[in-house]
Amino acid sequence: MRFPDDVPVLTDSLVTLRAHTTADIGPAYETCQDPEMQRWTTIPVPYLQEHAVGYLTEQIPAGWADGSSYAWAIEYDGRYAGTVDLRDREGGVGEIGFAVSPWARGNGVMTRAVKLAVRHAFDQLGLQRVIWRAYVGNWGSRRVAWKAGFRSLVTLPQEGLQRGVRRDEWVASVTRDDELEPQGRWWPIPVVEGNGVRLRPLGPQDAERVMAACNDERTATWLAGLPSPYTLEDAHTFIEGRIAWAADGDGVSWAIADPETDELLGNISAFDLRGRIDPTVGEIGYWAHPDARGRGVMSAAVGLAVRHAFTPLDDGGLGRRRLVLYAAAPNAASAHVAEVNGFVRTGLQRAASPRRDGSYDDLISFDLLATEHPDYRKLLENVAE
Ligand SMILES: CC(C)(COP(=O)(O)OP(=O)(O)OC[C@H]1O[C@@H](n2cnc3c(N)ncnc32)[C@H](O)[C@@H]1OP(=O)(O)O)[C@@H](O)C(=O)NCCC(=O)NCCS
Repeated sequence: MRFPDDVPVLTDSLVTLRAHTTADIGPAYETCQDPEMQRWTTIPVPYLQEHAVGYLTEQIPAGWADGSSYAWAIEYDGRYAGTVDLRDREGGVGEIGFAVSPWARGNGVMTRAVKLAVRHAFDQLGLQRVIWRAYVGNWGSRRVAWKAGFRSLVTLPQEGLQRGVRRDEWVASVTRDDELEPQGRWWPIPVVEGNGVRLRPLGPQDAERVMAACNDERTATWLAGLPSPYTLEDAHTFIEGRIAWAADGDGVSWAIADPETDELLGNISAFDLRGRIDPTVGEIGYWAHPDARGRGVMSAAVGLAVRHAFTPLDDGGLGRRRLVLYAAAPNAASAHVAEVNGFVRTGLQRAASPRRDGSYDDLISFDLLATEHPDYRKLLENVAE
């Protein structure tokens, strides 16, 4: 194909993909100064003007000419706003790469551009499959891929190569008959405040207090699976893992925070939300930082989490019909938290809760039905309190 004459212009109501021009060199160079660009892509660092000139005036035209790669400039709001490219791999498989300028982010521009390019790949280029890859932790990119219908995500350890360094990579794909729409739930993690506590998403700022809480003797006793000693790295892994729960549809995990200082007081989760047999059930789990115990923080947090879990899906909740909760039999504080929130003891599983010393405690099972919640009718009718 001849560049730029044969480059197809693809457009929806807001975003246009078109051939790059020399006028894009300046804005493309600027975009590549962004630390996020350097962190998540393979562009040279430091990124010089000559890199932008070479990419736009040599590499991109050559890719169109020999059919190895098709790169479009993204135009949004009348300006160059980034680049999306499709590399033609063998066997009808293409690979998509993309970046958007910082000023244009968060407006759905990238999702629209990806959909336009993927549609073109299937309808005009005859590709069967398009693959997306991103370094693990690039949540913005993962979200774009999810919104554009990429699926069957896997993590491949050390699959990526960035400036000579191996990095773990997420890989997902979409095939020509797939709908370019999200597959599976990506649970929002709303900020919920009430009863003297705030539930909010966990973040890297919580790592120190997560580490302190999980090194505490009582936490370690009842959560025997935790690493010991529990390092700052463990805390960061925990936090990222809980963010991934939401993206995978598995669960919603909040930091319980002090409403005044926003400091982490504990962790509460509603999880196992993808139950194969019954996807209307969820489990509630929690731990508190030692300095937050004994003042009703966890009872308050469970109250908020339960309410969110029973709120219908259409109203932004988790749409649960039934919640379960487990506490080791000697863990009276945990059983108390369950019972003040209306959970009903349903049984005792014998020798089911492992201790660190190799012994086992009995495990009390609790459950709570949405119909038993005092605000059940209000939740259904979406009447604010
Ligand atoms: C990743 C990138 C392309 C996203 O561009 P964008 O224009 O913001 O994309 P969109 O607006 O279409 O969608 C982004 C979505 O991700 C969400 N998002 C962004 N950062 C996020 C984060 N750290 N965690 C969770 N979600 C995040 C946005 O809220 C938005 O979701 P929403 O539409 O539901 O609100 C852009 O940040 C970028 O260019 N980054 C640097 C280069 C890069 O990483 N390229 C991809 C390499 S694989």
